[in-house]
Amino acid sequence: MEKAFQALLDDWKGVKGNVIPLLQKTQEIFGFLPRESMCKIARVTGKTTAEIYGVATFYAQFRFTPMGKHVMKICHGTACHVQGADSLDTVVEQKLGVKPGSTTADREFTVERVACLGCCSLAPVVMIDGEVYGRLTGDKLGKIVSAVGTKTGALKA
Ligand code: FES
Repeated sequence: MEKAFQALLDDWKGVKGNVIPLLQKTQEIFGFLPRESMCKIARVTGKTTAEIYGVATFYAQFRFTPMGKHVMKICHGTACHVQGADSLDTVVEQKLGVKPGSTTADREFTVERVACLGCCSLAPVVMIDGEVYGRLTGDKLGKIVSAVGTKTGALKA
């Protein structure tokens, strides 16, 4: 990864408008934006590290901590909210010990809160690793999380 990152810095050094592409490609390499990479991007772009953080924190696409192996998106759009999305947060918190916006200590699950997954008729909806689970109850979601986790060893059966 370090080699790929260095090649990236070399390729984009001195190129006009290089900040966003460098941030995007760095995130592709590492899965997030490590602190050290931000300093190196600053050097290559001629900006300060604070300026690079300023750009990166402006966009929701950038993350500063590693992702878990499984990504769970709990929808909190209007339809899902009305159908009890908050109770799904509670189930996930009880099951995995993390709130939306964080990753489990073993880096198995990243839990995110999203606006609308585009399948409101199935509300409340959760997406895990790109697969949509709809018309959820807390009980159903608990079982799905267990199934995903036990399949990979993240949770005990
Ligand atoms: S509001 Fe949840 S899918 Fe649209």
